[in-house]
Amino acid sequence: MIVASTTDYREAARRRLPPFLFHYIDGGAYAEQTMRRNQEDLQDLALKQRVLKAVGEVDLSTRVFDEPFALPVAMAPVGLTGMYARRGEVQAARAAASRGIPFTMSSVSVCPIEEVQPKVDRPIWFQLYVLKDRGFMKNALERAWAAGVRTLVFTVDMPVPGARYRDAHSGMSGARAAQRRMMQAVLHPRWAWSVGVMGRPHDLGNVSAYLKRKIALEDYVGWLGANFDPSIGWNDLQWIRDYWKGSMVLKGILDPEDARDAVRFGADGIVVSNHGGRQLDGVLSTARALPMVADAVKGDLTLLVDSGIRSGLDVVRMLAQGADAVLIGRAYIYALAAAGEKGVANLIDLIASEMRVAMTLSGARSIKDISGESLVSSGMTGMAHP
Ligand code: FNR
Ligand code: LAC
Repeated sequence: MIVASTTDYREAARRRLPPFLFHYIDGGAYAEQTMRRNQEDLQDLALKQRVLKAVGEVDLSTRVFDEPFALPVAMAPVGLTGMYARRGEVQAARAAASRGIPFTMSSVSVCPIEEVQPKVDRPIWFQLYVLKDRGFMKNALERAWAAGVRTLVFTVDMPVPGARYRDAHSGMSGARAAQRRMMQAVLHPRWAWSVGVMGRPHDLGNVSAYLKRKIALEDYVGWLGANFDPSIGWNDLQWIRDYWKGSMVLKGILDPEDARDAVRFGADGIVVSNHGGRQLDGVLSTARALPMVADAVKGDLTLLVDSGIRSGLDVVRMLAQGADAVLIGRAYIYALAAAGEKGVANLIDLIASEMRVAMTLSGARSIKDISGESLVSSGMTGMAHP
């Protein structure tokens, strides 16, 4: 099929992946209201068209945590990436590096840090979850630092996993899940061969490197629920701040008060995020939360945002609302599932060219020219709800 956008990659991924994986990626929590609003509220922000500004060549480059970015985009941490394409973390990280942006490895990735970092000529970022076994956290920090990681993304919005109804229906979890997944694999032979057979071992590489035994993925969703720690508080983070010598970013902040706490805590950055609508359904979209958070802390730390970003236009919208850079999640995962490393590289190119068009037609020559002035001030237009 012809692929020219994230929407096309999503459809290609839907065809290629067994449904239990596609719906795990594509779905969100409960009625998926927040997940939908992430995209709708973002698309509702009207860009301001300005012409004859003699823009000429547009420069997308920027710096974040003193690291050069070819465009203000990083790859969000996504669990089980090595199940969507063969050794998927390696492929995605290579694509990101080839396009001059960082890849963030999830705690619950298939490939371990030591498999990915040596294959990529730019430091990856590492995302840490709070597991009940604090030994894992210390071990993961040590291994990440030793591999060359300097940016730690600490995710704080998953003390418990949100209920994802689609997982129960799809065979990701629930009754007879293993048999249903086997049937789906048979019906998706290209995936079954490339990933199911040739993409082994299927494991949580970072966790098993610590426990020195394989983690069975048969009950991945159950494993998350059993091992994540709902009792975490600000005080528990202090030793990590003291221990980690690189940049520390807190991911999953949605409220201005929490953002102020993150500044007091000494975070170098935050990711304004509702986890792509996968956690607490009914919370604000990030398109709406970001301006409030920016009012509270802009300039005090690096302001990143994710959830709902599908195009270069969405990136410009988020920057116009105060973000320094964005993370993309599902957009690159669809491309990875559909076409591997090449697909992800192509997706980044699409986002870059969309940004160039948006910037040229809104009179912005460089990233610092994007501001509130790039949007029509009345804000929401209702375009997403014709
Ligand atoms: C995620 N996300 C996530 N976040 C994180 O900190 N650690 C993780 O392991 C995962 N795992 C994960 C799996 C899948 C399949 C998805 C789709 C997402 C959340 C991710 O980092 C990011 O916040 C969202 O994906 C952003 O929303 P969009 O861009 O997908 O709409
Ligand atoms: C998820 C977890 C792993 O969103 O972050 O599924």
